[in-house]
Amino acid sequence: MKCEFLLALFFVGVLSCAGQEYSKADSFKISLIWPNSYCLTNDHDCRPSVPQYFTINGLWAVGSDGEVMENCKTGYYLTDKIITTNKVDLLKFWPDLSTYNFQDSKKLWKSQWETYGSCAADLMLAEGYISKAMNLRQSHNLYQILTNAGIVANGSSYKADRILTAIRKSTKFMVDIVCETDRVGNVYLSEVIQCLDNHGKEFVDCENKANNCDKDPIFPDPLFTSAAVKARRNASPMKRVTKIHA
Ligand SMILES: *[C@@H]1O[C@H](CO)[C@@H](O)[C@H](O)[C@H]1NC(C)=O
Repeated sequence: MKCEFLLALFFVGVLSCAGQEYSKADSFKISLIWPNSYCLTNDHDCRPSVPQYFTINGLWAVGSDGEVMENCKTGYYLTDKIITTNKVDLLKFWPDLSTYNFQDSKKLWKSQWETYGSCAADLMLAEGYISKAMNLRQSHNLYQILTNAGIVANGSSYKADRILTAIRKSTKFMVDIVCETDRVGNVYLSEVIQCLDNHGKEFVDCENKANNCDKDPIFPDPLFTSAAVKARRNASPMKRVTKIHA
């Protein structure tokens, strides 16, 4: 009797261990960034000109705990061949904003696959992951949606709720947005996150949340961006000393 009980416990143990190893995505998220905002925050070093449309930040598998899954074990790789096949799309819609160089950009795409793509590998291989991200980005023209709603990228600020509502009305699904703050306290619209079902196929509602948008975020254009970047450079200690002497 006792032995049978222990045996049963042993099997339960084996089953639960197997369950832990086999973790599957509960949902997916695609994050798009507004390049100007990216360049204005976190002292990101950007190339002289960046796209004036939303570009891909990441395609993420989300676990049952609601957390983005990272660094899953997979035997699949994002090879140079796959990258070269998708070169035009990747450079255009998933650019490394610090460089125009294709070779240098490969690091970004490979690390994205290893960190996030690896957790989607049971559903889509690396080719599928890239084309999935491209197709999702293409399903909605967020820049146009915002412009049509009077949310123009011209350096003005807009209520976070207004941004969420404009995108929800046009795409029919709730999204989340993320704001980022620069060193002098300006808050920018930096990311739009759209949610997908457990196959990464259909859009579903996100939480309609505005993260870190403590103030109405600025939606910056290139003019605003270059002026702010210049001001940031002038504010460095070396420059300030020069100015006093001048
Ligand atoms: C930006 O565009 C909005 C909407 O057209 C307008 O209300 C606002 O005054 C503009 N801001 C600037 C700085 O031109």
